[in-house]
Amino acid sequence: MKEKTKRIYKGFGSTCVHSQVDLHKAVNTHTEAIYPTSTFAYDDANELMQIFKGEREGYIYGRWHNPTVEMAEKKIAALEAWNLKNEKGEQLELASKVFSSGMGAISALFLACLKPGDKVITQGTLYGGTNALLHQILEPINIVPVIIELKNLSLVEDCLKKDSSIKMIYIETPSNPTMDCYDIEALNSLAKKYQCICAVDNTFATPYLQQPFQYDVDFVLHSTTKYLNGHGTAIGGVLLGKDISFFNKRIIPVLKLIGANGNPFDAWTLIQGMKTLELRMERHCLNTMKVAEYLQGHSEIAHVNYCGFKSHPDFALIKKQMKNYTGMLSFELKGGLNAGIEMMNNISFCTLAVSLGTADTIIQHPASMSHLPVPKEERLKFGITDGLIRLSVGIENADDIIADLEQALAKN
Ligand SMILES: Cc1ncc(COP(=O)(O)O)c(C=O)c1O
Repeated sequence: MKEKTKRIYKGFGSTCVHSQVDLHKAVNTHTEAIYPTSTFAYDDANELMQIFKGEREGYIYGRWHNPTVEMAEKKIAALEAWNLKNEKGEQLELASKVFSSGMGAISALFLACLKPGDKVITQGTLYGGTNALLHQILEPINIVPVIIELKNLSLVEDCLKKDSSIKMIYIETPSNPTMDCYDIEALNSLAKKYQCICAVDNTFATPYLQQPFQYDVDFVLHSTTKYLNGHGTAIGGVLLGKDISFFNKRIIPVLKLIGANGNPFDAWTLIQGMKTLELRMERHCLNTMKVAEYLQGHSEIAHVNYCGFKSHPDFALIKKQMKNYTGMLSFELKGGLNAGIEMMNNISFCTLAVSLGTADTIIQHPASMSHLPVPKEERLKFGITDGLIRLSVGIENADDIIADLEQALAKN
């Protein structure tokens, strides 16, 4: 079996399929092996001692590392670094750790990089769980979120200038569920100017459409539950870092000690999912364009938030930092809250659920579902109106998705 693990491929799709096929091939399996083991056994005490001391490579305990999980980590690192060079002009190498969930990865990032007294600047249109983590878990231990409009770069700079306790800029772009986009390059430059860490949640875009490390950010994270897995078979997260020694010293101990490690079976489903990432994203994007165009002209719909419309307020930025417009959109029903609930009850082909990025089309109504706990005046500030519907457009045939939306809207 030829050594494939270190190869660099010309194409993103080839990297999806071939990178890090199997680190530990004992027999000639075609696909990667699952190593369902809690610990790793040795005959020789010296060998284990040397591994503990870091003098030789090897596995010790399943909460710390696992070969199947490592294969997933290496594949995601290869995708986020695809076609990117380091300052010496060599292929960029990234540190990468898989977590039990996207929230596990985000928690480890904050806990490893911030201490009581530190602040983190971020946007209002943030995934609800991240927002709740900041307010409910971190703020009580004096790690304080500063929520501002990240599109207003002079406001961001003013805050950084005035407050040296701000240690991180945390960006989610495109954002959930309004599809607002933020300038990764400009925000990272401000972060660097004021000695801050810059981290990007790349869940909505995936490394196929957007590579934040291109702009030299410090960390990228994903809820792998979404597009990277792509089939809705497991909850998971990943955190990747550019500074490998910082990652080893700070992130990995947090992962080990909070115990938010990914497991071998979920990592295996993630590896299989990522092999088709390029193909799936192409289809998600194509279908979403068709669905967005259909919804745009509908008499029951006030407006559509979609990255691919020239009328999107961030269209110039989207063209610059993204390769395509994602499989996500949201739209506002003129009939408000009741129209939203009604539409959810009338959907039949699309799946009524609160995740995204899967092969099937998923629809949800934030005001009555994901954002129910957020006070109305808070969610309205960030465009999450009563009639807003979020759609994760799947890889089915667009005609079937549109037909379902059409029949559900006709009953409204
Ligand atoms: C943009 C984004 N980031 C993070 C998360 C959290 O991921 P998980 O549910 O895998 O913990 C989600 C979940 O929906 C999300 O949409």
